[in-house]
Amino acid sequence: MCGIVGYIGHREAYPIVIKGLKRLEYRGYDSAGVMLYDAESGIKICKTKGKVADLEAKAKNGFTTNGNIGIGHTRWATHGVPNDVNSHPHLSNSGELAIIHNGIIENYAPLKEELIKRGYVFHSDTDTEVLVNLIEEVQKKENIKLGKAVQIALNQVVGAYAIAVFDKKNPNELVAARLGSPLAIGVGEGEYFIASDASPFIEYTSNAIYLEDGEMANIRLHKPLKIRKIKDDSLVDPYIQELQMNLEQIEKGGYDHFMLKEIYEQPSVIKDTYRGRLNANKGIVQMAGVEDNLEKFLNAKRIVIVACGTSWHAGLVAEYIFEEFARIPVEVEYASEFRYRNPIINKDDVVIAISQSGETADTMAAIKLAKENGAFVFGVCNVVGSSISRETHAGAYTHAGPEIGVASTKAFTTQITVLTMIALRLGKAKGTLSNTDFHTYLQELEIIPEKVAEALETNDRAKEIAAAFKDAPNCLYLGRGYNFPVALEGALKLKEISYIHAEGYPAAEMKHGPIALIDEHMPVIVIAPKQGHYDKIVSNIQEIKSRSGKIIAVVTKGDTQVRELADYVIEIPETSDALSPLITTIPLQLLSYYIAVMRGCNVDQPRNLAKSVTVE
Ligand code: F6R
Repeated sequence: MCGIVGYIGHREAYPIVIKGLKRLEYRGYDSAGVMLYDAESGIKICKTKGKVADLEAKAKNGFTTNGNIGIGHTRWATHGVPNDVNSHPHLSNSGELAIIHNGIIENYAPLKEELIKRGYVFHSDTDTEVLVNLIEEVQKKENIKLGKAVQIALNQVVGAYAIAVFDKKNPNELVAARLGSPLAIGVGEGEYFIASDASPFIEYTSNAIYLEDGEMANIRLHKPLKIRKIKDDSLVDPYIQELQMNLEQIEKGGYDHFMLKEIYEQPSVIKDTYRGRLNANKGIVQMAGVEDNLEKFLNAKRIVIVACGTSWHAGLVAEYIFEEFARIPVEVEYASEFRYRNPIINKDDVVIAISQSGETADTMAAIKLAKENGAFVFGVCNVVGSSISRETHAGAYTHAGPEIGVASTKAFTTQITVLTMIALRLGKAKGTLSNTDFHTYLQELEIIPEKVAEALETNDRAKEIAAAFKDAPNCLYLGRGYNFPVALEGALKLKEISYIHAEGYPAAEMKHGPIALIDEHMPVIVIAPKQGHYDKIVSNIQEIKSRSGKIIAVVTKGDTQVRELADYVIEIPETSDALSPLITTIPLQLLSYYIAVMRGCNVDQPRNLAKSVTVE
């Protein structure tokens, strides 16, 4: 949820930390702070409520930015409101230790009580300030170095964390540790970087170590890195990975917002998703993770999909596709609900966990529960090496590249692409999909990027419609069959970035309640492509029309029937019903984007949200 950055080396730390925080701001942006150290001034902290830009502005006001060692934090508040005091870094009572933390210390209350009894004073409402003082208490009591004290303290802590700690008494060292929150270490020439993901150090080094859960690192200047297990102190051989990410992927590339860039990347990233996995001419669709476990999939009595938010919507699309192509019963569960009831999971269930970030705490917990109950768990993740991709038995990456806009766009379409390929593979192997249909779908999927590119031509139309409806207080999204989840996704996109209340419904459900909302002020976005339940949806449109609702219809090019009824139409290229979500979703993304821009909202960093939800 929060973003953390650290630097120790020969360069000025401040610009590296600030730039790193900007890159990690998608993870949380309600406050930001930085700690720098130099021998002359000692520890200096500048922190503020607001964004990294506010921190920079504050730092210009007399904050000395010297120093070759620094840590920084961008926050998504959990304990304590976003204000200057609750912002990180936090200092220990002696002022000698400084910490940044992404995660939650669940047992902070009894630890705090104990520390207060020992005379500690707390200035903030955060669990993090408890942790830094606990480390200090351990260090004092045992008279030990920082690394050991961090280790002992972490063994008393329940919760999730990625932390970096600095000790003024030994200023050539940073100690980092992780459990449940991501942490990467960049290894340069005579310098080290710490960050929640590799983006803050991509231009300095392509060598990265991703700490595993339960590991900590002593990062010392001009000394080799020491990684050990927090629990038993055993040393771990550092595994240095070469980063695949490049700078271009994490910059806006001429677009006004990451969200728009990512919407426009969809034709190429869908191609990246199926590259090397799909060949329509040869009639091949295969993914290593599926091939290696084909029997498990084929013998599955049931597929259970667990995910949250947009990934959950991709799961709903997959439910229709799996049941249609492979005739396997599918249940789609909110990971957060699944984990807190007592779900019936059998050994012959296949559980598919979908997550862009690969860090979502609820999805992670659902995976662990499924594994404990003997299910085979398959991950569909975007972030390579993420916690979920490591926790699952097997999986397939979506290869969408970094998604930085908080509202998910290309992750959704690439997740659907992966899930469609799995369904096609299983349908073929089971014989539930005819040879002709199998080949037709392969060909269609192969040319989907071109159709997505064509769908992006609705950009100006989306802008025009956005101008007409930007002040609407509510919106209804309706779709049927494969496009019901697209209606949910369209509504989610609108509400999260424009703060307009929006609901998605199966079109036929409208008459069971939501129809009461319809009057001349209610925009209703209806997904009505030619394939699918077209006649039925035309009837639904008529029902809206006769109640004076404003109809915005997404239709197949050349459609005339809906055009006569709708106030606005957006035309998209024709495709089969099953693959239509990959196309129909595009104008809905654009519509939300332009409405949010016209309302003056912060599209890439909508209020109260964060990209990677590592709390329950
Ligand atoms: C919506 C959005 C969220 C995420 C959800 C799950 O635009 O981004 O709803 O889809 O938080 O995140 P991942 O897919 O990272 O597990």
